[in-house]
Amino acid sequence: MTQEIETKRVALITGASKGIGRLCAERLAAEGWRVFGAARTHATIENVESLEMDVDDDASVAAGVAQVLEKAGRLDALINNAGFSQRGAVEDVSMAEAKAILETNFFGALRLCRAAAPALRESRGVIVNMSSLAGQIGLPFTAHYCASKAALEALSESLRFELRPFGVRVVIVEPGDFKTDIHTARRVSQATREGVYGKAFDLFLRKRRAFEAKASTAEPVAELVARILNVPEPALRYVVAMPSQRLLLVMKRVSPQFFYEWIMRKILCQ
Ligand SMILES: NC(=O)c1ccc[n+]([C@@H]2O[C@H](COP(=O)([O-])OP(=O)(O)OC[C@H]3O[C@@H](n4cnc5c(N)ncnc54)[C@H](OP(=O)(O)O)[C@@H]3O)[C@@H](O)[C@H]2O)c1
Repeated sequence: MTQEIETKRVALITGASKGIGRLCAERLAAEGWRVFGAARTHATIENVESLEMDVDDDASVAAGVAQVLEKAGRLDALINNAGFSQRGAVEDVSMAEAKAILETNFFGALRLCRAAAPALRESRGVIVNMSSLAGQIGLPFTAHYCASKAALEALSESLRFELRPFGVRVVIVEPGDFKTDIHTARRVSQATREGVYGKAFDLFLRKRRAFEAKASTAEPVAELVARILNVPEPALRYVVAMPSQRLLLVMKRVSPQFFYEWIMRKILCQ
């Protein structure tokens, strides 16, 4: 079969059925990209080609990437955005639950990077890995989500060195809180609610909900991603967050550890 080579730039976005991924898909399509939006559920988005893909599954990822290449003949940008969140104490979250979040948030992105790397080397493309401020800031009762994002950041940093000689840019985006379904769909440990951490957990959840209530919709994240894709030499890391959340990152870098932890306990635990 002779394949028509796509002249538009081609992007593959995971977790594109809603939230940040959907906004990225809409934004890139509006900017003239040919966009493939992948998720486990089908979503109809104007000028976006929907792709059924479970990032937890090797065969599903391989088939999804193959489909993009078959249809478009090229791939210029991979946005690893699929993910979910979880809350619970380290000793209460089961190993199966811990593995499940790493499977999606970390191994899912790793699978996509591996499957898409040959095409991205050919196009001298870009990989954007959607991390979180939680990739740099450990939060109580959120260890597995933080670990999944910290692992994604470590992967990105290493991969950036490996792919640079081929002209492929690897970038981390760290959003703070934005209003999406991630907060309502979050898996919350019943064991932690009912166990020895119950009171502290309840207070933490209330404090976090107050932050999340102040969050704005996620257009700034999509705008940032679209901007990064046009930067010839992007930085490794981009933060997109409320000023108060950005401040925590700065404090973590410059303050003595005891002071930083005191502030964090005030904000989250007292
Ligand atoms: N919103 C925030 O405040 C925030 C802050 C920091 C970082 N982030 C990160 O931003 C990314 C997007 O989050 P969001 O807020 O937009 O969440 P969301 O609205 O809940 O959307 C999550 C997306 O991921 C997809 N997904 C989940 N598991 C998947 C799987 N196994 N295979 C394929 N797709 C899967 C979902 O689609 P299906 O269920 O249809 O598969 C959905 O499209 C996540 O990586 C999240 O950690 C979000």
